[in-house]
Amino acid sequence: MAVNDFIRDNKDRFLNELLDLLRIPSVSADPKFKDDVFAAADFVKESLEKAGADLVEICQTKGYPIVYGEKIIDPALPTVLVYGHYDVQPADPYELWDSPPFEPVIKKTKIHPEGAIFARGSADDKGQFYMYVKAFEAMMASGDLPCNVKFMIEGEEEVGSDNLDKFVIENKEKLKADVILISDTHMISMQDPSITVGLRGMAYMEVEVTGSNRDLHSGTYGGAVANPINVLCDMIASMQDENKHITIPGFYDKVQELTAAQRERLNEAPFDLNEYQDKLDIADVHGEKGYTTIERVGIRPTLDVNGIWGGYIGEGAKTVLPSKANAKISMRLVPDQDWREIAELFESHFKSIAPKSVKVKVKAHHGGAPAVVSDSSVGYKAAEAAMEETFGKRPIPTREGGSIPIVALFQKELGSDPILFGFGLDTDALHSPNEHYGVKNYFIGIETIAAFFRQFRKLSDK
Ligand code: BES
Ligand code: MN
Ligand code: MN
Repeated sequence: MAVNDFIRDNKDRFLNELLDLLRIPSVSADPKFKDDVFAAADFVKESLEKAGADLVEICQTKGYPIVYGEKIIDPALPTVLVYGHYDVQPADPYELWDSPPFEPVIKKTKIHPEGAIFARGSADDKGQFYMYVKAFEAMMASGDLPCNVKFMIEGEEEVGSDNLDKFVIENKEKLKADVILISDTHMISMQDPSITVGLRGMAYMEVEVTGSNRDLHSGTYGGAVANPINVLCDMIASMQDENKHITIPGFYDKVQELTAAQRERLNEAPFDLNEYQDKLDIADVHGEKGYTTIERVGIRPTLDVNGIWGGYIGEGAKTVLPSKANAKISMRLVPDQDWREIAELFESHFKSIAPKSVKVKVKAHHGGAPAVVSDSSVGYKAAEAAMEETFGKRPIPTREGGSIPIVALFQKELGSDPILFGFGLDTDALHSPNEHYGVKNYFIGIETIAAFFRQFRKLSDK
């Protein structure tokens, strides 16, 4: 097939171009990298232009821009909207990387015997959205683009996509499509392809607990004045009971319980608990009583401390009762929990459990809605058929624990179901040191995307 020949003939270039993109440290969370985030947007713009897209533009927002581009071959044909993000998570802690995070290298691993690209953003999400740019280029170059295509690649996903809602709401006509493709998730494994049909939402909070008006000598005052770190730890610990059930009143009120049959189906996905534990070097898993690991991640909400600080953490020992303690706490949410409601429930509960000996402040950072997508839409069927072509196996639907808050907004505002067409693996070390993306995953992704376009054209009644 001409498209696959083109992909094969241009393998080295397709790989090298991705490496160039990975060299740009487009960390959206840290203003130090501001110019680099803009440079990444320019890179995306140029690569879309080179691949053959029309009307490529950098759409400015209050934050980082959204890169748009399209190719409308025939308005009567189905249109595919591609979403991805060119921003990446901070690479910290740098010292835990085996090679510098923005100097990509290809190394073989047990899971990736053909090699994996090690760099921040390789799997999340540069390596994944770039597959679409290359699949598009290959389809254009071989004169075989079966559907219209629109690209919307943003630069603020890792910081909550604050400006994307507005862009989507204001550009509904421009973004109109028959299906939305997003590759920013995992599959079970190369042997067990899967398509994500559920993502969790999120409410991200920050708290501050203040004791005395200054740091105190822990001998003079210790035992008599509240230590805000101790108090914060007590408060956090009390927010889960012995069954790891979250104790915030009302927290579970809107949680959708799945039927026994739905749960059974979910648990049919291949999953080896020992292998899972071994890969993470843990002797046991942990979580809400009465649920399997697959369920704990896919269909149950959580409360986790992402960071906690206060007091003395320098060299040696210092005896001190600190004045303040802080923590960043996130809650992963499931349908039909509303992140604003949950943020409020958290705030009032946190304030209510604070002893009189301390003052507390609570702030909501960002949030996002959970999403469940259909596994019977034309888009899903096309994705299924495309994966069956390239992997030789029918993918299974899975529900993942991560969040892509914009998915629920797409469903609401654009009215078409997004397909969460991820080609990464859970071992790719997203947000972690030594993030990597399999070279094989990259190329099979490009081929599967091209197959999707053919299948979607065939299955659509347009
Ligand atoms: N690509 C991830 C989301 C993801 C990862 C979904 C793995 C499924 C499996 C995305 O870039 C991400 O990291 N999202 C954030 C949320 C955001 C609001 C910061 C997350 O899930 O923590
Ligand atoms: Mn991502
Ligand atoms: Mn991410």
